[in-house]
Amino acid sequence: MTAMQNVRAQAHYVVQLPRSDDFAFWRERARALIQCDIPPERIAWVEPGGTDDLFSSSGTRLPEPPANAPPVRAGKRYLSLAKNAALHSDPNRFSLLYRLLWRLQRNPRIMEDKADVDVRRVEELDKNVRRDSHKMHAFVRFRQVEEADGVDHYVAWFEPEHHILRANAGFFMRRFASMRWSILTPQGTLHWDGETMREGPPAQKSDAPHGDPIEDLWRTYYASIFNPARLKVGAMLSEMPRKYWKNLPEAALIPELVAGAQKRESEMVAAGELSFEERPESLEAIGSAIEACRKCPIGCLENRAVMGEGPSDALLMIVGEQPGDVENQEGRPFVGPAGQLLDVHLERSGIDRGRAYVTNAVKHFKFTMRGKRRLHQSPTAKEIDTCRWWMEGERALVKPKLVLAMGASAARGMLGKTVSISKVRGAPIALEDGSELWITAHPSYLLRLDGEAREKQAALFDADLAAVRKRLGELVG
Ligand code: URA
Repeated sequence: MTAMQNVRAQAHYVVQLPRSDDFAFWRERARALIQCDIPPERIAWVEPGGTDDLFSSSGTRLPEPPANAPPVRAGKRYLSLAKNAALHSDPNRFSLLYRLLWRLQRNPRIMEDKADVDVRRVEELDKNVRRDSHKMHAFVRFRQVEEADGVDHYVAWFEPEHHILRANAGFFMRRFASMRWSILTPQGTLHWDGETMREGPPAQKSDAPHGDPIEDLWRTYYASIFNPARLKVGAMLSEMPRKYWKNLPEAALIPELVAGAQKRESEMVAAGELSFEERPESLEAIGSAIEACRKCPIGCLENRAVMGEGPSDALLMIVGEQPGDVENQEGRPFVGPAGQLLDVHLERSGIDRGRAYVTNAVKHFKFTMRGKRRLHQSPTAKEIDTCRWWMEGERALVKPKLVLAMGASAARGMLGKTVSISKVRGAPIALEDGSELWITAHPSYLLRLDGEAREKQAALFDADLAAVRKRLGELVG
């Protein structure tokens, strides 16, 4: 051990966070500390107002990572959970996140271990924070205040459980873009004047105006944000039990909106009105965004999204329907029974799966409960069309020269219309960007057959894969 290493081995480090919700700052420091090989028990993460109980001193100056330090491995799932977990009010969250990050460097598959105590705790923190944000979106109630300059000002009081105020500023800014409003909380305040957002110090309930919320405005707002594609009456009742309806001005609209939901959903999909935020610019960002996507009812089921995987510059992109139960548990596409069969056929045809980008037309697992089992359900055309946006995002980034769509759902995801597999298989379809689409059956179709029928379909599947293999050879020249 060098003298410097010896000093580091003994030292402890106190990291003062400038804000309780500053994930970016934490991430920077955590990355440097991992690169300097500083173990979790030597670091105290202190947020504003907190004390360093661990070492009760200011600690050693933070070290600089060596120039040749290896990159820090985190992974999509860790990052998307960590971003939310960092907003939790648990004072130990930053230590937990660091410990898990530290362990991930030694065991990159730890996030797949459902029984791991740290993973479970981070998942729990993430869930609590998402729930708190959801409640904030649903229950912030503005009250109108007369301003001296004659412009209406709307003020709301809200008490978040976690440090979610800043993270949700964009949501309220977009929803109430043209209003002048303030949201007051015990953690801090947000003020929007129609052009700029300002942050202010913590407030007290008595700072907010009393009286009834502005009912008409609230009703209009609620009707405009009501997304029929997300409607789950059971969940709605548990979130906003009927006994509270009398106090909520918008509740008068609920029965009517529920009744018209299905119709409006179809109209919105047809008119392309299911609006998305700007498309993320990296596969990692898509991975985080699909995790939070609730644009269709499948996204509202309690399960994780499964992102595509493979080289980000793959020549071949393979598209399936949606993750199955195993994929959902493992967080990776095509690792269950259909995936195993696919692997056999790919190998037989000489296609290297490791060099392909493998994904699905729909990113969440659609299922129905049968006892304790989750049974696969096919996505509807509308659900595929909605999720298409994400797959197109992946395709735009990976830019494959050849796409192999397996099954009717994948074909619809690629083409935006339903086609008959038997009519389109075996020949390329030119795509708008100059790449080629090849369509074949889904491997799970083979799994459902046996005997001669299975042999026949397996031979057709092999022939399609062989044609794709040959074409890939031509494309690389
Ligand atoms: N079926 C699919 O279409 N995709 C998967 O990832 C797994 C099974």
